[in-house]
Amino acid sequence: MTELVDFDFPVGMLVCPICGNDIAAFHCAGCNSEFFSLGGIPCLFTTGIQQKNLWQHQMAMMENQGADALEHLDYILQGYDISPRTRNRLQQARAAMSESLEMIMGQLKGAGLVSRREPLFEQMRIDNPTEYYHHILRDWAWDAEPSKHYATHVNDANLQRVLNVWKSPLPGKMLFLGAGAGRLSWDLHKVLQPEFTIASDINPFLLTCADTLIKKRKPLTLPELYTYPQIGYPFSRSWVMQPPADKENLHKSWFALGADVWNMPLWEGSVDSVVTSWLLDVTGGDVKDLISVVGYLLKPGGYWVNTGPLLYSGQLSFDMKYSAEEILEFADMAGFDVEHQSVEEVAHMASPLNARYHHEQLFSFSARKRTEARPLPVPGNTSDWLTPSWLVMHHQPVPEMQFHCQMGHEFIARVLSLVDGRRSVYLIAQLVQPYLPEGVDAKRGCCRAVWPDIGTDGG
Ligand SMILES: C[S@@+](CC[C@H](N)C(=O)[O-])C[C@H]1O[C@@H](n2cnc3c(N)ncnc32)[C@H](O)[C@@H]1O
Repeated sequence: MTELVDFDFPVGMLVCPICGNDIAAFHCAGCNSEFFSLGGIPCLFTTGIQQKNLWQHQMAMMENQGADALEHLDYILQGYDISPRTRNRLQQARAAMSESLEMIMGQLKGAGLVSRREPLFEQMRIDNPTEYYHHILRDWAWDAEPSKHYATHVNDANLQRVLNVWKSPLPGKMLFLGAGAGRLSWDLHKVLQPEFTIASDINPFLLTCADTLIKKRKPLTLPELYTYPQIGYPFSRSWVMQPPADKENLHKSWFALGADVWNMPLWEGSVDSVVTSWLLDVTGGDVKDLISVVGYLLKPGGYWVNTGPLLYSGQLSFDMKYSAEEILEFADMAGFDVEHQSVEEVAHMASPLNARYHHEQLFSFSARKRTEARPLPVPGNTSDWLTPSWLVMHHQPVPEMQFHCQMGHEFIARVLSLVDGRRSVYLIAQLVQPYLPEGVDAKRGCCRAVWPDIGTDGG
């Protein structure tokens, strides 16, 4: 059994994401779960070792798709009816595609994964680990060329935007949730010099690329290819990305972590600052729940700094596409004082190789977790009681009070019997879910169960 100390990770930070036990090895003594290392990066998911199998399956799928695409190009290149110019374009594309596949596979294999299909995942919709491929280039390659959009470079602008809202940073133990290819986590780490930085993400390719450049201090080569023609731009280019300059050996206190934001393997109140950048709108979950995750991990007095757009994915239910004002209100309800905020419109993902780019509106803010919780509202005629924060923020305890089960339904009686002043709507919902028919959302039911009673009893 390998000890976690081999991971080179801050001691005493990790906790089993399944049972909450102290973790000192890849094996959890509390629940017998197995975890693993991705080329030295600790990976602690509730799916345990299956997460590695899933990644390996993703690799195999990607390898097959890549091989099919190359085979198709080879077939076209065998044709007699293509002009020399077309042939030249296709050959360039083939070379870039082949290099890209080779580099991605090499990177993942170098981190200890093998390309292997798993019957368990054959019927599942599988994400592609290269979804954020261009973020790696944005983070580590494109700064090599002069920027048409920024005074210096996009990464400088991203760093400055965060520092502009985080006026007196005391990063302490700093955690990045969904750190991606790692550039902002590194730039902030370098400027603020926290005790340490943990850059967590769920994507194995981004994790290994960030770790290779920042921690292992090795160069990385990745090609960039566009399949549509652009006048005055090459089709492709191979970028050689160098490890960032680090005279002070600050990489020693920067750590990658494979983890899911919804089940972070870290202790409650164990970090002094949490940074979320371009994350709120892409997790597919409820921002209110993400705020609870941040609040759970932060120490009282700690800072949450957020930056990014509110471009929620199409699949997210409309009621969860919260506005900036709603998010700030949720943060307030969750025990944060918002200190500074900014709104900016910027060029996003503007590659030197691409005439097209996104124009995005970015919402940034810093918020401090209160050291003392506000007293819970007492039932009565107060305005905040009309929509109590524990009803909106499902992770807050439901205060103990005199509920009268007026409708006399068994489900309502069960929900109300579980209110003990400590349990949240979220927890009560988990406890009653097994008693509900499949497809019925217990959380909604719980809110309805307590709300009519408040309306009549407390209002
Ligand atoms: C739009 S990218 C932003 C990356 C980086 N923060 C940046 O500013 O460039 C979103 C990142 O969130 C990560 N992510 C999405 N859902 C996640 C989850 N449930 N747990 C951990 N990371 C997640 C993705 O893998 C991706 O790296």
